[in-house]
Amino acid sequence: MHAKKTRSHFSLHKNMNQHLLDPTDLSVSETDAILGLAMQMINREFDPSRLRQGTKLATLFYEPSTRTRLSFTAAIIELGGHALGFSEAGSSSVSKGETVADTVRVVSKFADIIAIRHPQEGAPMVAALHASVPVINAGDGGHSHPTQTLTDLLTIKREKGRLDNLTVGLCGDLKYGRTVHSLLKALSRYKNNRFVLIAPDELRLPDYIIHAVNDHPSLSFSEQSSLEAAIPDLDVLYMTRIQKERFDDEAQYIRLKDSFILDAAKLANAPKQMIIMHPLPRVNEIAPEVDADPRAAYFRQVENGKYVRMALIHTLLKHNADYRLPEMPPATWQTGNLCKNPRCISAVEPVIPYNHPAEHNTRRCVYCDAEIL
Ligand code: CP
Repeated sequence: MHAKKTRSHFSLHKNMNQHLLDPTDLSVSETDAILGLAMQMINREFDPSRLRQGTKLATLFYEPSTRTRLSFTAAIIELGGHALGFSEAGSSSVSKGETVADTVRVVSKFADIIAIRHPQEGAPMVAALHASVPVINAGDGGHSHPTQTLTDLLTIKREKGRLDNLTVGLCGDLKYGRTVHSLLKALSRYKNNRFVLIAPDELRLPDYIIHAVNDHPSLSFSEQSSLEAAIPDLDVLYMTRIQKERFDDEAQYIRLKDSFILDAAKLANAPKQMIIMHPLPRVNEIAPEVDADPRAAYFRQVENGKYVRMALIHTLLKHNADYRLPEMPPATWQTGNLCKNPRCISAVEPVIPYNHPAEHNTRRCVYCDAEIL
């Protein structure tokens, strides 16, 4: 879609930019164009129902989802296309041991574009390496969730009128919160944004995310242990769920799960123009009494997700009319010892052993971004 990529995994194949694996796979201008197209759809400036007539979207969901899968399905239907796929691994041949690589090779014969969600980090990258159609990351473990980010950017743009000069509080599980990781990467490319990180010590933002975003000179980060103390300064409060499914130690989850709860009393000290966002699902980190507050934007946020996915599907396919399967470079496949992250796709299926080039004296796994020790 664009000439210059900064993410190193895009040098693996010249055609890798047919996919959306990470929010930074789109340049800022491409991101803005997708948000603009979504706005045109919202404003009914044209009829999208013939844009992708007959196009087939495969939704391969190895992990539960309500919003992402159904909004992808609604999006392709509104574009005039059709959805196929599975909503749990157990109902597909994955349960017989089929790899992601083989699954997407097969699905590429039936579908024009694939959206994949997987609990193993980097699984969408494996899919992109083996699919002959564009692949969209619909969430991989605690790693990345770029279409949620497009949803979040459109929500901020609609609610606040801008994506720069914002003070954004990110609250909850910043360690495993893939929506936070992706949103930080995307918002850090707009000027003068300040991020207030509000998390328990055990769930602090991983360093690699800070390293990935901190080269913009106008960015600032601060840490706050108290939501009450942070809230008066915020333009956007982005709440997240403490994700039970990411913990190895249930006792730790129980200890941390109620670390931050937004209720009417805490909201009393928030600016009148602040908006409250949440990727959802919520558990009890936002009290139901908050829903009636006009600042609660999280259900409006959900609807934006359908429009950005419509815009994204159309954009990727428009730019992929001449897509050809890239030639695989010579490589020795490996499993189990590529990186030490047990949540990496390389821990459970054979992958081509690529790493990012060293940055900040560190090498990272190209699939999951974990440090290679
Ligand atoms: N926000 C989000 O990803 O929701 P689902 O898990 O329901 O798709």
